[in-house]
Amino acid sequence: MMRNDIAFEMSGSNLRFGPGVTKEIGLDLKEMSAKRVLVITDERLAKLPSVELVKESLEQSGTNFDVFSRVRVEPSDQSFQEAIEFAGAGDYDAYVAVGGGSAIDTAKAANLYATWPADFLDYVNAPIGAGKPVPGPLKPLIAVPTTAGTGSETTGIAIFDLLEKNCKTGIRHRRIRPTLGIIDPENTRTLPPQVAAASGIDVICHALESFTAKPFNQRPYPESPNLRPAYQGSNPISDVWSLEALRLASQNLVRVCQDPSDDEARARMILAAAYAGMGFGTAGVHLCHAMSYPISSLIRDYHHPGYPDDHAIVPHGISVVLTAPAVFRFTVDGCADRHLTAAQNLGSHVDGASLDDAGKILSDTILELMRRLEIPNGLSAIGFTTRDIPALVEGTLPQQIRHLASRPAERDDLAQLFEESMTLW
Ligand SMILES: NC(=O)c1ccc[n+]([C@@H]2O[C@H](COP(=O)([O-])OP(=O)(O)OC[C@H]3O[C@@H](n4cnc5c(N)ncnc54)[C@H](O)[C@@H]3O)[C@@H](O)[C@H]2O)c1
Repeated sequence: MMRNDIAFEMSGSNLRFGPGVTKEIGLDLKEMSAKRVLVITDERLAKLPSVELVKESLEQSGTNFDVFSRVRVEPSDQSFQEAIEFAGAGDYDAYVAVGGGSAIDTAKAANLYATWPADFLDYVNAPIGAGKPVPGPLKPLIAVPTTAGTGSETTGIAIFDLLEKNCKTGIRHRRIRPTLGIIDPENTRTLPPQVAAASGIDVICHALESFTAKPFNQRPYPESPNLRPAYQGSNPISDVWSLEALRLASQNLVRVCQDPSDDEARARMILAAAYAGMGFGTAGVHLCHAMSYPISSLIRDYHHPGYPDDHAIVPHGISVVLTAPAVFRFTVDGCADRHLTAAQNLGSHVDGASLDDAGKILSDTILELMRRLEIPNGLSAIGFTTRDIPALVEGTLPQQIRHLASRPAERDDLAQLFEESMTLW
């Protein structure tokens, strides 16, 4: 008889939090004996104070550095490869990523392939890639998040769009996790409200999906303890981080979008992003993320305000949250009590509520927040029609994370979930 796992494991990045800590980065790199550093960022950020501060700090510490600022917002295999080539040619002994998930993920890939060169698909998640483990330690990577945000500073995950297959996928291994995350709320001061909303709603989805993921002890016992997956399922440690992330984000996300000069709300939101990263980096995410990948890849002419317009783009957080109201009405059958607790941490009054209503209560709570954040009204508002549903379903089926949902979602269920996500209110 197949035995279920009895263990889960928590490991995380070193994190330093504080307004202004970005200027300490030069000393950190000196302490790591880094002589030649590559700073990885995107074009917009390269002109903003966060990157300027990093450069000043490196200069003051006498550290040599180059800057690669061609990160693609929502990276692709091609943009990863460009950064990998740049990194490979430079013989760098440490990396600094300044930006949102796009810059941090690109830096993880550059560090990985420059240190352990391989065919690009070798380290990419199976079944799309070969899913090979990273053979050994990488060079130090310091992540300086400027969104609040993906939590990429805490995770061993790098996400990209594989252009030839029209599918978003990633590399997942603990060795690509940044060595240090510098969490400085000053760096989100310049965030346009639309980016604050899109990246902030991603925080909430990370926390909701990890808290409602299938528990770690419903997964088969691995052949060997070191083969335990990165996404282990919900567990008592990730629950703590996810629930606190929900509480912080629900109280501060609307505030940061309305007033970027609200220092207290910005500080709490960037912490919430890291907390959610620690939760989902251990427990995993499920249907909203699995369904978001084809939404991102199949987007046609849509351009989201506040984002660069060099290519059609649906911000990651938006692609994730558009299916959330339908997903949580569906997964409620797997763990209704958790759906109610999640709604409560998002600020809903659930005293006396019946578990039978838990899915609708959580879904309505998310919808209310989406409306306050002026998020597009469903997939139809970003250019999809019901004719796209078969392709969206096909793009979701290979995403292994969908199996972490507390209720199995197969082809027909997914079609129904996409259908319900076309128009939300
Ligand atoms: N590795 C992970 O664990 C993980 C988790 C979730 C998402 N992701 C990935 O991260 C990417 C999304 O990252 P994101 O939401 O952080 O946004 P992003 O990095 O894509 O940035 C979005 C836009 O905001 C701009 N921007 C960022 N910070 C700014 C600031 N402080 N001031 C002004 N402009 C700023 C950027 O220049 C860019 O134009 C997606 O590719 C997604 O798949 C990764």
